[in-house]
Amino acid sequence: MSNRVDSIKLNHWLNIRKTSLNVLNRRLKNHINYEITFNNLEQLDEHTIDQIVKILSIPKNFILSADEIPSYIYNTKEEIQKTKRPIKRGGIHYYNYYTLPSPKGYVAPVLIDILCPKEKMPVLNNGHLEPAITVSLGPNDIYARFAKKINKTNFVKFRINPDPKTNWVVGSNYYEPSYCLHTYSRATDGPGKILSYTTRSNIENLFDSKFNENSFKNMSKILYTDKPNRSFLLQDILNRGFNLETISKKTKISLKKIKNYFNKKNNLSFLDLKKICKIINTEPSFYIDKKFTEDAIGKYYFDYKDSLKTIRNFKSYEVASIACSARSPDLSGYFLKVDNNSKKEVTDLLDSNCSHYLATKGSLIFFSKENNKIKKVKMSEGDSLWVSSYTQHGFAGSGALIKISDGQNFNYLEKIDITNTYNLKKTLSRGRKDKVNWGYDIE
Ligand SMILES: [Fe+2]
Repeated sequence: MSNRVDSIKLNHWLNIRKTSLNVLNRRLKNHINYEITFNNLEQLDEHTIDQIVKILSIPKNFILSADEIPSYIYNTKEEIQKTKRPIKRGGIHYYNYYTLPSPKGYVAPVLIDILCPKEKMPVLNNGHLEPAITVSLGPNDIYARFAKKINKTNFVKFRINPDPKTNWVVGSNYYEPSYCLHTYSRATDGPGKILSYTTRSNIENLFDSKFNENSFKNMSKILYTDKPNRSFLLQDILNRGFNLETISKKTKISLKKIKNYFNKKNNLSFLDLKKICKIINTEPSFYIDKKFTEDAIGKYYFDYKDSLKTIRNFKSYEVASIACSARSPDLSGYFLKVDNNSKKEVTDLLDSNCSHYLATKGSLIFFSKENNKIKKVKMSEGDSLWVSSYTQHGFAGSGALIKISDGQNFNYLEKIDITNTYNLKKTLSRGRKDKVNWGYDIE
């Protein structure tokens, strides 16, 4: 974030506050001795910016210009090596952490050296809000532990694929939900490593400044934690000033049936949900009960052999899936084998999400296309990339990568909102770099 006011952001907030530059200047008159225009915003001093944000009642970063997100960021193995830092746990040097590249302010994946010896029971961490995908990188098998009491689900050998023909599918991998405890130790006398991608949580602000204490307490009390979708339907009925008696009368669904649905004693068909949503004019699919594929502690685990079963051709590559969960629609990944020695530029990949790549084998050339210009980066084992949403890119050479994508550049909540947007074509062209005011005469 710079110290310059961005004209588009300022215009956007003038529009939101239903005010104009003229009114703003009138109110600034007692504080500064010049008029601000959309052309002198670069020269505004701290004092003026403070006054503007006070008048608009917004935090400063709402109108300061931000650095443009790059198309990609590349770090060599050596650069990643420099981010190494040790952590201690259970009285020993337990892990070394390394950070992979990502834009400023983004949560980034880490590489972790597993140092806890195989004789020692690995010491659990406290878990964290952010969901994650973790891949065993080798060169040796390690143990992964997920709970105090050990059983088959929560103490596993986190294995490496030993077959040189298919070991571009490097190792076992799993999706980890919020606050799932996890820790690792060696399973042999040799070293082990993991790639762990902890993504950003979309609900972190709810735990922070968004709700006051009272609101948060009430929400927690009211929400059916096993079926929050039903709470939100009931709430949306009440939010719109309907009681269940009215809903029952209008939909001809018996009051008892509706009440039992909200008491979780029975189900409603999708047809019934649609009838209710028609009365309150909301979209029914949001309220459907959800089911997730996961084990008893909420994780979804792929042994490397499970990943091997998913090997398939994709564009100019072979890929194999990494475990993911419908609980985190933005977080997913795959192993990628590149065997394409053509000298031509390859830009056959394009994702709506941003992606992290870690080269695990061979030597590769990364191509990215921006404004019809192709950029090229030579990559070898241990190098890493971050690639932004909707950037055409691809790989040539002979080798393998691990790819993990997430929603920090463009998340599924924004995608849902786009599917709800009226006159999308016009909104897309107008919303970006909007310099139009909301409709007042410029004096
Ligand atoms: Fe973690």
